[in-house]
Amino acid sequence: MSEKVAIIGSGLIGQFWSMIFASGGYSVSIYDIDDKQVSKALTLIREKLHLYEQQGCLRGKSSAAEQAQLISGHTDLAECVEGACYLQECVPEVVDLKTKVFQQLDIMLTDTMVAASSSSCLGPSQFAGSMQHRDRVVVAHPVNPPYFIPLVEIVPGPWTAPDVLEKTRAIMEKVGQSPITLRKEVPGFALNRIQYAIINECWDMLKQGILSPEDIDKVMKDGLGPRYAFIGPLETMHLNADGIVDYCQRYADGAYKVCETLAPPPIQYDLDTAGKVLNEFKDTIPLDKIPDRRQWRDDRLAALATLKRQCDAK
Ligand code: NAI
Repeated sequence: MSEKVAIIGSGLIGQFWSMIFASGGYSVSIYDIDDKQVSKALTLIREKLHLYEQQGCLRGKSSAAEQAQLISGHTDLAECVEGACYLQECVPEVVDLKTKVFQQLDIMLTDTMVAASSSSCLGPSQFAGSMQHRDRVVVAHPVNPPYFIPLVEIVPGPWTAPDVLEKTRAIMEKVGQSPITLRKEVPGFALNRIQYAIINECWDMLKQGILSPEDIDKVMKDGLGPRYAFIGPLETMHLNADGIVDYCQRYADGAYKVCETLAPPPIQYDLDTAGKVLNEFKDTIPLDKIPDRRQWRDDRLAALATLKRQCDAK
């Protein structure tokens, strides 16, 4: 019999996690405080699995129907959690709510279970500190849409047990995600720290009128983005010279001089500049077309994920 994973909260991220765990062969139980949401989530999951199968981007070795069979809905939290080796909490990002949910989970946890939160910003120390089983709690932060963007940030609290980090990483690898493990809890984890550093510089160049909003986005999507879809900044340095030491010898001084001219963080995203960017998007992506554009983005991310899998299989 397949091992069981429990999903608490069946909104957008809970649904994606369910599909990811089912693709890895886990039996998945979903719970939500809202009974109707559970059946809605099961329908949406089934539809998405069949759509992805038709589109050729279904993950895992079994069919959409077989994967859907592995997923069940529950209206009772204890029933959902019973017998699970791993819990993935996916309730809204509100500190009091996460604290309450983890308090409820505390009495159901054993010394071998892992209780992971999908939290984007809150670290375990912010919602798990008063739990008896706080050593079993970790953040496993996905990136939207996690079915096509595999990174998962594993973030320990000060008291998280080492085997919790190891088990979480192993489960993520088993289901085809790409986990990274932070050694300690820091604000923004890793992805947002790096993302905010990029936005800081984009915002400053916009404010200084050096680049238009359209050209700023082109730097990423037609410049750094394609490269970074396959290799990271450190490997880029290694490949762009005869190894990283040679890169530093050749380029470190130049890079340092450029960095001396960067605006010192933090930068406030002011509404005046935001209004100018909004104006640039008024014809291309007006506010009422954002859902269509999100779908357009997700279709392209699905195609990229398929391409990367094909490249890696060679
Ligand atoms: P959502 O609003 O789509 O879904 C939340 C679900 O939790 C709802 O179905 C709601 O009924 C349920 N819920 C509320 N209180 C509950 C309780 N006490 N017990 C059980 N279920 C409860 O939210 P979403 O977007 O799925 O986000 C969930 C978590 O994932 C948040 O921590 C968020 O920061 C994180 N996350 C979200 C991403 C995104 O792009 N949406 C990306 C990465 C992480």
